[in-house]
Amino acid sequence: MKIAVIGCGYWGPNLIRNFVQSNKIEELTCCDLDQKRLDRMKSLYPSVKLASNYEELLQKPDLDSVAIATPVKTHYPIAKEFLSEGKHVFIEKPLTHSFDTALELVKLAEEKQKVLMVGHTFEYTAAVNKIKDIVDSGEIGKILYISCTRVNLGLFQPDINVIWDLAPHDISIILYILGEAPVSVNSQGRAHFKAGIEDVATTTLNFKDGVIAFIHNSWLDPNKIRRTTIVGTKKMLVYDDIEPQEKIKIFDKGVDVPPYYDTFAEFHLSYRYGDIHSPRIEDYEPLKKECDHFLTCIQNGVSPLSDGYSGVRVVSILEAASKSLRLSGRSVQTQGLKLLNKKSKNNGNGFLMASSWR
Ligand SMILES: NC(=O)c1ccc[n+]([C@@H]2O[C@H](COP(=O)([O-])OP(=O)(O)OC[C@H]3O[C@@H](n4cnc5c(N)ncnc54)[C@H](O)[C@@H]3O)[C@@H](O)[C@H]2O)c1
Repeated sequence: MKIAVIGCGYWGPNLIRNFVQSNKIEELTCCDLDQKRLDRMKSLYPSVKLASNYEELLQKPDLDSVAIATPVKTHYPIAKEFLSEGKHVFIEKPLTHSFDTALELVKLAEEKQKVLMVGHTFEYTAAVNKIKDIVDSGEIGKILYISCTRVNLGLFQPDINVIWDLAPHDISIILYILGEAPVSVNSQGRAHFKAGIEDVATTTLNFKDGVIAFIHNSWLDPNKIRRTTIVGTKKMLVYDDIEPQEKIKIFDKGVDVPPYYDTFAEFHLSYRYGDIHSPRIEDYEPLKKECDHFLTCIQNGVSPLSDGYSGVRVVSILEAASKSLRLSGRSVQTQGLKLLNKKSKNNGNGFLMASSWR
């Protein structure tokens, strides 16, 4: 297959490295407006072709697909042009900058029968897949709440706030694990350095059966933290992505309510302090798996795990969070999620998705 990676800034080179190493790729073109970035890619991978303008790639009839790793607001116009030309498209997270544009790309990909995939990298990690298995097995019990912290110092983005930058990872993990989209979102944050670009925010996702998820994102924190805590009725699980070895820890801890009591004096909760267990997880590069999944989906004509609808769900929540920020944290309904949960086939992760094409 012939592929082009558009955007060779911070993240694009990671996609390029993985596609260059894939035995499914016959030709790779690196595209960037910045000649210095193209020169750098050529020095690292002498076999790649270069393009300084993505329009010239639109004219290449033998190009099968593109991977877009440009700033978020450029995702939609670039992807639209390539889908219209009948190319398969991979887009870095978040899919686009708005619900309407994200849904438009999904419809276009369906009309053209092309793969549209979003780079929700964490859905391809061994840790998140292990957590999904543990939760689905019932070991944790019924989930009561999820709490995510993704903070560090910088990198301030010029065009998107910290929620659009960091929360797509947390949201995609939460949706993947719960297999359900929230009914409403609340978000509060502050822009300390650039008007309208919040650098710290806390977002709450409210699910219909009472499950609640909290996401704390910041570019203004002394520590780099990537932690997800899942509290269930039976056990509690902590996923720390910074941990080199024991990324997941399952705590046999909890609170038991006495079965009955007659007087208030008799009422007391009992706390359970049991063992802590860290399951073994496979060691592989998630991005390699993600890139290979995109190519396999093209070969087999099937929807990816993180398909366009998955991208729309995340964008819908990001958009609701942005609206809530402007309303000082008031609750905002997530747009169109009913529609998104109504697709025809189940992909095994709780969500219904478009049928395969062959
Ligand atoms: N999956 C992940 O973990 C992850 C991590 C970081 C960034 N990202 C995503 O990757 C995307 C890019 O982020 P980044 O941090 O690499 O940004 P960046 O600013 O470092 O790089 C973007 C590159 O795109 C180029 N570019 C801009 N417009 C272009 C156009 N029209 N044609 C060709 N090239 C163009 C720029 O010259 C620049 O080199 C974003 O969507 C971001 O959210 C994903």
